[in-house]
Amino acid sequence: MSRARWLAVPAVLLATWAYAQSAPPPPAPAGPHPFFAVHKVLTSPRCMNCHPQGDAPLQFDQSKPHAMGISRAIDDVGMSCATCHQVVQYDFPHAPPGAPNWHLPPEDMRMVFEGQTVQSLCEQLRDPAKNGGKTLDEVLHHVSHDPLVLWGWNPGPGRTTPPLSHDTFVGEMKRWVDMQGACPEDTRPFVPAPPMPIAAPAAETPAATDAPATDTPAADTPATDTPATDTPAAQP
Ligand code: HEC
Ligand code: HEC
Repeated sequence: MSRARWLAVPAVLLATWAYAQSAPPPPAPAGPHPFFAVHKVLTSPRCMNCHPQGDAPLQFDQSKPHAMGISRAIDDVGMSCATCHQVVQYDFPHAPPGAPNWHLPPEDMRMVFEGQTVQSLCEQLRDPAKNGGKTLDEVLHHVSHDPLVLWGWNPGPGRTTPPLSHDTFVGEMKRWVDMQGACPEDTRPFVPAPPMPIAAPAAETPAATDAPATDTPAADTPATDTPATDTPAAQP
């Protein structure tokens, strides 16, 4: 009996070793996993405000639902985002942000950034069924050249920019693409990026036991189900 137990120990060790050998080699990036930096940019207000959970775009660093009841449903009343959002960024405060083809991701391919953990956003971004049918290289191309992305670094007076420079962001994206889009295991809850300048990684915040710190405007994260239905039928 006790002999059998002794024999079981090496058997378990051997099985563990064999399992470890058969697992695919984990990618070994130099330094922290690049998607942590990527996540910080994607969930910063200039980007997240057009990648909301609900049907309304969001506004300001507090990511409030767009004023005037604007949502995906404005198409139904014969308007579009471009009714107000021009193709260029005007240089005065509170002008509607401008870039060519200002719009939200489509209803059936929402590309939600809001509320995503590092891991879940990573898995979404590498999945062609969820990223608009893009290969990893196409995702890299998108973030390098798309006018809506570039707008984030030229958002007009009074608006903060993402926490990394565009070059640094693209560099981290490239490192991630070079890793074949491997995702880090990180399921810590989503914490909206604090307004710029960003001092400490937001990801550090532990799974809150009680209410989040009061010193960030994060507390008024918009409800997930923003009213898509009571849209401005009255808009001209
Ligand atoms: C009736 C005019 C109007 C329409 C239509 C409109 N917007 Fe806006 N939008 C504005 C104005 C004005 C601002 C700037 C408000 C400010 O900065 O005080 C703005 C700001 C924004 C911002 C904020 C940027 C930021 O990060 O703070 C986003 C995002 C946005 N709009 C998205 C959209 C989308 C997407 C649509 C179409 C579904 C749309 N808007 C339709 C007028 C409009
Ligand atoms: C005006 C709204 C708008 C803003 C602002 C915006 N995006 Fe997007 N984004 C879109 C739309 C719409 C798509 C879908 C592709 C398309 O139709 O061009 C998209 C697609 C993407 C995609 C690829 C698809 C995926 O998997 O999600 C990435 C990555 C992306 N955006 C990153 C960013 C980043 C980074 C920023 C900020 C620097 C940003 N976006 C700001 C509207 C916006």
